Amino acid sequence: MTSAAAPKIRVAVVFGGRSSEHAVSCATAAGVLAAIDRDRFDVLPVGIARDGSWVLVEDDPDPLRLAPGHTPEVVSGGTELILPTRTGQRTVLAHDPGEVPRVFGEVDVVLPLLHGPYGEDGTIQGMLELADIRYVGCGVLASAVGMDKHYMKVVFDAAGLPIGPYTVVTDARWRRDRAGALAEIEQQLKFPVFVKPCRAGSSMGISKVDDAAGLADAIEEARTHDLKVIVEEGIVGREIECAVLQGRGCDAPRTSQVGEIVVEAGHGHTFYDFEAKYLDADAVRLSCPADVPLEQADEVRRCAADAFEALGCEGLARVDCFVTPAGEVLVNEINTMPGFTPFSMYPQMWKATGLGYTELITELIELALQRPVGLR
Ligand SMILES: Nc1ncnc2c1ncn2[C@@H]1O[C@H](COP(=O)(O)OP(=O)(O)O)[C@@H](O)[C@H]1O
Ligand SMILES: [Mg+2]
Repeated sequence: MTSAAAPKIRVAVVFGGRSSEHAVSCATAAGVLAAIDRDRFDVLPVGIARDGSWVLVEDDPDPLRLAPGHTPEVVSGGTELILPTRTGQRTVLAHDPGEVPRVFGEVDVVLPLLHGPYGEDGTIQGMLELADIRYVGCGVLASAVGMDKHYMKVVFDAAGLPIGPYTVVTDARWRRDRAGALAEIEQQLKFPVFVKPCRAGSSMGISKVDDAAGLADAIEEARTHDLKVIVEEGIVGREIECAVLQGRGCDAPRTSQVGEIVVEAGHGHTFYDFEAKYLDADAVRLSCPADVPLEQADEVRRCAADAFEALGCEGLARVDCFVTPAGEVLVNEINTMPGFTPFSMYPQMWKATGLGYTELITELIELALQRPVGLR
């Protein structure tokens, strides 16, 4: 029980951001603002507009929800917020246009609910590390590696985790030797392949390509999101995911019940694409616990914990696997700031494991407050 006199912990909830997942981040923030334990935490909602400015946002979840016909957005203008930029400071400054910046309050911990580059990729984590400010979730390296589907696979492979075949097309390679890059893909991978921007999320810029004829266009499409592109062999299998939470103290990571993403036939989605994820509620079923044999669920959980440790993750991560018809588990990806609305897979998997959404948010903040700043 928190006594009435106990000071509340000041949490800066940071969302929006410069990536193409801006709206998804707003939706995550809507969920968190509505559910965070207000008896324990004082919330400072900090929006990052698409132009990169940091602004004070009203503490109201409703305008931030994502729905068909409503794409939430943090708009620049109004009161800008300046977070501490050096050690020994916890003061947030507010800056109204034409005024002198004023002290707005202190921050105890930051909850960066950002998806994609400039948020989930170690950049904001680096900024907070510089100022010794505690924050929820993975540190700089784990965030950066987890954002980059190429280096993620390099690390998984080195840790002995099972992954599928892939080829990377860098910007330099594409501009220098496009024909060679295309020939290499055709030689190394079996179709269909998945062409993806290396550093994106929410399925943005991803295409499934059935034959060589569609490859160049798919690469160009992925390049509109990131100039580094990864091409992966298509895996036939069920999509089974696992939520991971850092252990308390020196404890091992905790894994949830596994969940399954079922993309229903007849809705025009050939894989778990952006529309299926966020806009077409009937197209996808999240099933948790997934109806898979216990050994397969255990194997997914083992891979999830190993992936978490291979990257040196902190706080949370969601690990997504494929389970093939032969029962083989392959790791598809790790997400260091997974979708986090109450309906998203990560909180749903914890709910099925006995940890509710509000308690999960509290646990994540407590983990952040407990961990030391600096090298750890
Ligand atoms: N190699 C693959 N084989 C089969 N399906 C894939 C493959 N890669 C991606 N997909 C499909 O595309 C979706 C999005 O790909 P993913 O790598 O998870 O990107 P994101 O980071 O955008 O979520 C997956 O959930 C899955 O449905
Ligand atoms: Mg994914």
